[in-house]
Amino acid sequence: MEPILQVRDLHTSFMTSNGEVHAVRGVSFNVEKGKTLGIVGESGSGKSVTSLSILKLLGTTGRVTAGSIKLDGEELTGKSRKEMRAIRGARIAMIFQDPMTSLNPLIPMGEQVGEMLWEHNRSMSKAERQQKVLELFRMVRIPEPEKRLKSYPHEFSGGMRQRVMIAMALACKPELLIADEPTTALDVSIQDQILKLMRALQREMGMSIMFITHDLGVVAELCDRVAVMYGGLLMEEADIVDIFKRPMHPYTLGLMASIPDMNQDKHVKLQPIPGSPPDMIHPPKGCPFAPRCPYAMRVCMEEIPPYAVTGENRRSMCWLLDPEAPAAGNPFRQGREAAV
Ligand SMILES: Nc1ncnc2c1ncn2[C@@H]1O[C@H](COP(=O)(O)OP(=O)(O)OP(=O)(O)O)[C@@H](O)[C@H]1O
Ligand SMILES: [Mg+2]
Repeated sequence: MEPILQVRDLHTSFMTSNGEVHAVRGVSFNVEKGKTLGIVGESGSGKSVTSLSILKLLGTTGRVTAGSIKLDGEELTGKSRKEMRAIRGARIAMIFQDPMTSLNPLIPMGEQVGEMLWEHNRSMSKAERQQKVLELFRMVRIPEPEKRLKSYPHEFSGGMRQRVMIAMALACKPELLIADEPTTALDVSIQDQILKLMRALQREMGMSIMFITHDLGVVAELCDRVAVMYGGLLMEEADIVDIFKRPMHPYTLGLMASIPDMNQDKHVKLQPIPGSPPDMIHPPKGCPFAPRCPYAMRVCMEEIPPYAVTGENRRSMCWLLDPEAPAAGNPFRQGREAAV
């Protein structure tokens, strides 16, 4: 089966007064039909820019400078603004961290969802639309939906607003949902409810999800696969079980270093790793993580490593995995068990 999304060698830059920001520097991945890909990585690694590149929402300064983005086999990079508008919402939906930025505070919630439906289907009558909005409110388990239709955004709690965003995102039965830290601003218990809801709706609708988060617990709970980003590059990609069992990149090792027990504490945040992220206007010549990597060798500073296959359907971008890398002190050769 063809993946719903195929991203190949994506490069995205922003022109700023300080120079060109090389936010994404050659990223490739697939999202399989009906599956969830998690994208993790610390702040500034290029997660949001990757998703905004797919949606063509890079503003006036951002541009995809190279690469290919295919939705169910159809190339998106050459699409016009108008064509992309039709694709967004209908075929690819999105949910962002702060629902308030996407909602109009002056219009009742029910009416806003109705307007969105009208945008995508002008043949629906007003009564049909109202019925559909009510159905959507029920689908995302909003209590007393008839009453809530007339409420304004500020009369909803954060969790309820995010439910409305999910309802809007799912209204047109998108093939792909891109969620960029949709639960970060919510309490842990509300987060859990929203994630459960998303999983249930995904099962019902067979939708594919690209889920961006800082929260490894969320990744473990929701995702089938995970891509780890750093410095605008995809450092490691693997199935969820494999990456937790045996991380095969020093950056992933660092991220997971202090997870106590995923079964006990489900909301462990990514751990900060000492050092600071790279300057994306003058990105380092070699591996962007090398200056912070405890295992860095000379070659790491000089050349971006090629991908190494690290198992079935998984790969990592690291010189330590090169067949010629020294075995001594190499966490992926000797004493691997100790490092994991
Ligand atoms: N509009 C913009 N203009 C210039 N630079 C930008 C713009 N948007 C993002 N960047 C830069 O691109 C890089 C990647 O940013 P991005 O927002 O994708 O990070 P992120 O991984 O989503 O981080 P976070 O976890 O904080 O959301 C960063 O260096 C950021 O400063
Ligand atoms: Mg982001």
